[in-house]
Amino acid sequence: MATQETVQPGDVTQRVGVEVIRARGVDVEKLIKMLVANAAAEFASTYYYYTILRMNLAGYEDYKEICEDARLEDRAHWELIVPRIYELGGQLPNDLKEFHDQAGCRAAKLPDPPTAVNILTLLLESERCAIRSWSAVCDITFGKDPRTYDLAARILNEEIEHEAWFIELLAHERDGKSVPSGHFRRGEPGEAPYSKNRGFYNP
Ligand SMILES: [Fe+2]
Ligand SMILES: [Fe+2]
Repeated sequence: MATQETVQPGDVTQRVGVEVIRARGVDVEKLIKMLVANAAAEFASTYYYYTILRMNLAGYEDYKEICEDARLEDRAHWELIVPRIYELGGQLPNDLKEFHDQAGCRAAKLPDPPTAVNILTLLLESERCAIRSWSAVCDITFGKDPRTYDLAARILNEEIEHEAWFIELLAHERDGKSVPSGHFRRGEPGEAPYSKNRGFYNP
């Protein structure tokens, strides 16, 4: 059955891309809020703070390398999802502090003391927050908004990998236990095999 058409020819104030998902039952305003919160978590709660966490893993070169992949992939997640916010008719706050404060996950601030165990614990819990947040986006878009669902599912694939990586590292560092993540090395740092569009666009 065709969706009822309300967007008039030549109308640039409304979007068929929004009309069709609203007709299928998506609460678009709620979705935009969730995407802004998730974008803020990717950019502010993780990418920014993971930079500091990585610096403080000095001497643990293997942990640093894994942290770097997670850090750069969170930047790719931010890049991937921001255009979708605008396509849906939303926008980013024109104030970085306001944006930061809307994040759906807590800022991954350097723990005190900044031991490897404390840093890995923080990284693990940040990834878990991301899994919950992106799963929630998948849930409200599944079968209704294939584009947002696809983007969220691609990000979720990597967040689930990140959780597994940090479980492996924390189990080793804290408990002396082997809990393999099944990790294969990325081609290069920040490869983001699921979430990156093109290197030129998103280096
Ligand atoms: Fe992420
Ligand atoms: Fe992540």
